[in-house]
Amino acid sequence: MSRLVAAVHVVTTRTSEGRTGFTATAVVSVSDSPPTLLVCLNRRNHSAPAFRRAGVFAVNMLAGDQQPVALGFGGRNDLAGEQRFAIGHWHEGHLGIPVLAGAVVVFECRLVEARTIATHDVLVGRVEAVTLGRDGPRLAYLGREFLVV
Ligand SMILES: Cc1cc2nc3c(=O)[nH]c(=O)nc-3n(C[C@H](O)[C@H](O)[C@H](O)COP(=O)(O)O)c2cc1C
Repeated sequence: MSRLVAAVHVVTTRTSEGRTGFTATAVVSVSDSPPTLLVCLNRRNHSAPAFRRAGVFAVNMLAGDQQPVALGFGGRNDLAGEQRFAIGHWHEGHLGIPVLAGAVVVFECRLVEARTIATHDVLVGRVEAVTLGRDGPRLAYLGREFLVV
């Protein structure tokens, strides 16, 4: 898997227990019509139950200068849950879920299907709102290292 080149995202949601999110490279566009994408979430991730329960999530594609956000939400510096949102500037999007300022694009999705495959929950989301941000350098991940492309 480390040979796959991938864009880096932070996927977020909110429940009555608060905000949560995780860094993800496993994000794929499924369909344009209706606009649909999927995210693969390890079921051992602490936030996995929250994503199923919330029924909505946001996919924030990171810009080249947002590596600290990727590290914070990637479990690399012991921050958990709400603490992760201290990194970066976050506001509430159209679906009431956390949206990152300065992201390349944010897709706010309603969960339409969740399927368990091996160790992961595959979350299929219908895109209900798109926020276009900076069309500049993106953060990518290859060979267990971050790249700016
Ligand atoms: C660059 C990068 C990409 C990642 N991609 C994914 C992914 O696609 N799916 C996933 O479940 N975890 C992925 N992770 C790991 C999760 O971000 C990490 O397990 C999670 O933040 C742990 O959260 P928790 O401490 O709340 O369980 C990735 C981590 C990094 C640093």
